[in-house]
Amino acid sequence: MCGIVGAIAARNVVPVLVDGLKRLEYRGYDSAGVAVLAGDAIRRVRRVGRVAEMENAAAEESLQGQVGIGHTRWATHGGVTEPNAHPHVSFGKIAVVHNGIIENHEEQRERLKGLGYAFESQTDTEVIAHLVHHYYQAGDSLFDAVKRASRELTGAYAIGVIAVDRPDELVCARMGCPLLVGLGDGENFIASDVSAIVSATRRVIFLEEGDIGRLTRDGVELLDKDDQPAQRPVHVSDVSLASLELGPYSHFMQKEIHEQPKALSDTIDAVQDYGFNPELFGERAGEVLPKLEGVKILACGTSYYAGLTAKYWIETIAGVQCDVEIASEYRYRSAWANPNYLVTTISQSGETLDTMEALKYAKELGHRYALSICNVRESAIPRASELVFFTRAGAEIGVASTKAFTTQLVGLFALAVTLGKMRGKVSAADEARYLDELRHLPGSVQHALNLEPQIKAWADKFAAKDNALFLGRGLHFPIALEGALKLKEISYIHAEAYPAGELKHGPLALVDEDMPVVVIAPNDTLLEKVKSNMQEVRARGGELFVFADLDSHFSESDGVHVIRTPRHVGVLSPVVHAIPVQMLAYHVALARGTDVDKPRNLAKSVTVE
Ligand code: F6R
Repeated sequence: MCGIVGAIAARNVVPVLVDGLKRLEYRGYDSAGVAVLAGDAIRRVRRVGRVAEMENAAAEESLQGQVGIGHTRWATHGGVTEPNAHPHVSFGKIAVVHNGIIENHEEQRERLKGLGYAFESQTDTEVIAHLVHHYYQAGDSLFDAVKRASRELTGAYAIGVIAVDRPDELVCARMGCPLLVGLGDGENFIASDVSAIVSATRRVIFLEEGDIGRLTRDGVELLDKDDQPAQRPVHVSDVSLASLELGPYSHFMQKEIHEQPKALSDTIDAVQDYGFNPELFGERAGEVLPKLEGVKILACGTSYYAGLTAKYWIETIAGVQCDVEIASEYRYRSAWANPNYLVTTISQSGETLDTMEALKYAKELGHRYALSICNVRESAIPRASELVFFTRAGAEIGVASTKAFTTQLVGLFALAVTLGKMRGKVSAADEARYLDELRHLPGSVQHALNLEPQIKAWADKFAAKDNALFLGRGLHFPIALEGALKLKEISYIHAEAYPAGELKHGPLALVDEDMPVVVIAPNDTLLEKVKSNMQEVRARGGELFVFADLDSHFSESDGVHVIRTPRHVGVLSPVVHAIPVQMLAYHVALARGTDVDKPRNLAKSVTVE
């Protein structure tokens, strides 16, 4: 994780760096720092805590400079301390910011100690600063020193480097972690993602694996991994500033929950543009999809739960076998591979290391084709996949995924229907009905959002609890899992989810009057079974909080609270039921006073193991 930004300009770049770090804070937020060239010295300000604290310190010290780098950290090597915060400096001459993990840092550290370098931090990054310094003081140009140093590193990195006596250049390198160059007018930038520099420029170059770049005020030179000059396409980013601002909302999570009707309708537009046809998943899909014998979904966290939901759709609607696996588990086991199973990764960020590595492993095992369901264009996972479906959720900044999840569900549903159609399982009438159901989805989601006042009233009851259980069955079990994950990650209440029928096989022992039990109980084929499971809870004194739909015919009674979502929307019901569990977690977190958008110990994009 971690976010990096850098700038070279004819103006003071400190405000650009600070603004960029604030926008990158979702990537890590335990400490932050900037370093600039100021006259004949590198001046650096670092603070444990949020970027705002570092910003205040930089203002107090009147930090200014026309070349600089900045970093917001999510600790991996070494605790959350100021000496471990970036930028790291070697002999006052070289300053480095780094995102990623250097795997051979111990070996390099021993070597550098032998060469007389002393270490001030426990980070892996400090070896980069010293290694660059080592080559630089031996006579290499800054660019060559970074090149030689980075070719000796193993692991993943995106780095930005400045040198005390090089006021006209900023050098960067990328391997395994995202890094882009922003092209301004007489000024240039580097950043982990475009949000960091969008107020300065929208023209960006996405660096490729192994690229090394040298930025001056007027130009950018790139070398590829084979040390050959590289030309990379210039993209014009369509990220809007409004999508990166809170607007009238208190938190990004709140904003993103409320943006779901729009995010869904934008994503559904993509489906309507192509219909349930292979081209929806990219140019090569027409050749790939007819050959496939099954689907293998790999993902982490919330995206994994989207995969679990998709399994029901793909097997029921398309009659195609679908396995779903947690990416971090799959990548380390001797998995069986049928080359004709379509490896389908789901990742909001497109950067999650476990998912990326699982994809590489699947390819090594012989899987021929991969489909990426992703929200971020130009990110690593879609680039490594033959087929792609981009969700149109817009930037998701709150650490807890919301609109990315529901739009992933739309992409996966479209996959199920497309496969079903290709295999003759979905008739023209079915296709028209599914399209119609999709078109009505944003409206149903808006209805679910209107339940917020009732959900808020429930939140006060949950805020005082230490534990919660979530139950669902069939298509709605993954939504129970998602509800429990949302609650634990932002309110820090311990929450578990079970398929309701599994309760009696163990977890029922947990149920007493202190255990709120949330039940997802729409009017589907399993409703009567869920009702029996609820009685098992009630009989043990458990308090039930039921999300039913209008057709479920539940009434409130002692210890049974009911919120009715809109009318049952058929197979797309999990999308609608995701909304109340997101809102419940949000309001419980508010009531408990936690940091909703930046929950402790977490970060938005998980580019470490
Ligand atoms: C939870 C959450 C995480 C992510 C997971 C995968 O709210 O956001 O569980 O879903 O870290 O991230 P992506 O989808 O970016 O691969």
